Amino acid sequence: MKIAGFGVEEWLNVWEKKATYDIAQSTISSMTMQEVLDLDGENGKSFYDLLNKQKMNYGWIEGSPEFKAEVAKLYKNISPDNILQTNGATGANHLALYALVEPGDHVISEYPSYQQLYDIPKSLGADVDYWHIHEEDGWYPDIEELKQLIRPNTKLICLNNANNPTGTILDRDFLQQVVDLAKTVGAYVLVDEVYLPLDDPSKFTSIVDLYDKGIATNSLSKTYSVPGIRVGWTATNSELADLFRKYRDYTMICCGVFNDMLATYVLRNRDKVLERNRQLVLNNLKIYSDWIESEPRASVIMPQAVSTSFPKLDVPEDIEQFCIRLLKEEGVLLVPGNRFDMPGHVRLGYCAQEDALREGLKRLSKFLRQYD
Ligand SMILES: Cc1ncc(COP(=O)(O)O)c(C=O)c1O
Repeated sequence: MKIAGFGVEEWLNVWEKKATYDIAQSTISSMTMQEVLDLDGENGKSFYDLLNKQKMNYGWIEGSPEFKAEVAKLYKNISPDNILQTNGATGANHLALYALVEPGDHVISEYPSYQQLYDIPKSLGADVDYWHIHEEDGWYPDIEELKQLIRPNTKLICLNNANNPTGTILDRDFLQQVVDLAKTVGAYVLVDEVYLPLDDPSKFTSIVDLYDKGIATNSLSKTYSVPGIRVGWTATNSELADLFRKYRDYTMICCGVFNDMLATYVLRNRDKVLERNRQLVLNNLKIYSDWIESEPRASVIMPQAVSTSFPKLDVPEDIEQFCIRLLKEEGVLLVPGNRFDMPGHVRLGYCAQEDALREGLKRLSKFLRQYD
């Protein structure tokens, strides 16, 4: 099976540990274990009391009942039975695509977005059409283009809501139009939902609250600031959950007793995590928008309080070379836009720690002055 290299991951694998000011990531500044333990106000005492009694066996294969119950609360009408725990959202996307896509299937994927969503279907032999997003439309895809792309044999439409790298949220009305079109041919709609608008989570609608053939994938890596625990999930109807179970047994057994417990603990303290992150995102958004206003060589469609952004940089140089020089000379890490096939842009993760963001932007501006 052939597959393209994963552009963003390959970039980060080489460069991220060399950064002093990492403003490339899409996670809202990760919590330390101490911050996680502080969430319950008792330094994680009940968490450890429970953990110490656990046997380090395989634990709950699909995720503990407690985990599934917490995740099910994120949706209007999904039974805990239909939540399957996975190794991050990466594992969730892989599971859904591996279970559904066969050679010759027609798949439509939002482009650019998370590369799994188009390159895994291609690697499985699907005929993949890109549904492009357009900067002039606030990074929205055009529903008229979907009408042109959809075919009687379209099996799956893949979206990333909110989008990585742009931070754009597809609103409920738009998703409803996608669902209406998908229904005409019986297509599934898979939506990777790892990013939530932190200013007002009610702006977000999960695909599984709109469509019985919707598949939501998600994890604790972005909105919840704990990518290190490697826990994600799929949420679907029961027929799809059964199908996924079959494939899941071949690709993973479980996420581990410790990870499941920690994931459940974080979800139980969800309100506190979201409040921490809401403050961080809104504070950093202000710093970021002030910087954009003052920087003549940068412009951006502002992300909707989602932790990733895709500014355009006016740089008369190959963008990847620019980013490598920026890192080597100023210690600042970005993701060059060519990794998303959009070389005029960079991914800028403004939800880093505030001091890293401030210093990173200052140094980026200093570096940009060389072209004036
Ligand atoms: C849209 C999207 N999906 C999934 C992932 C991976 O998430 P996880 O760490 O949960 O595997 C990322 C990470 O960048 C992402 O941006």
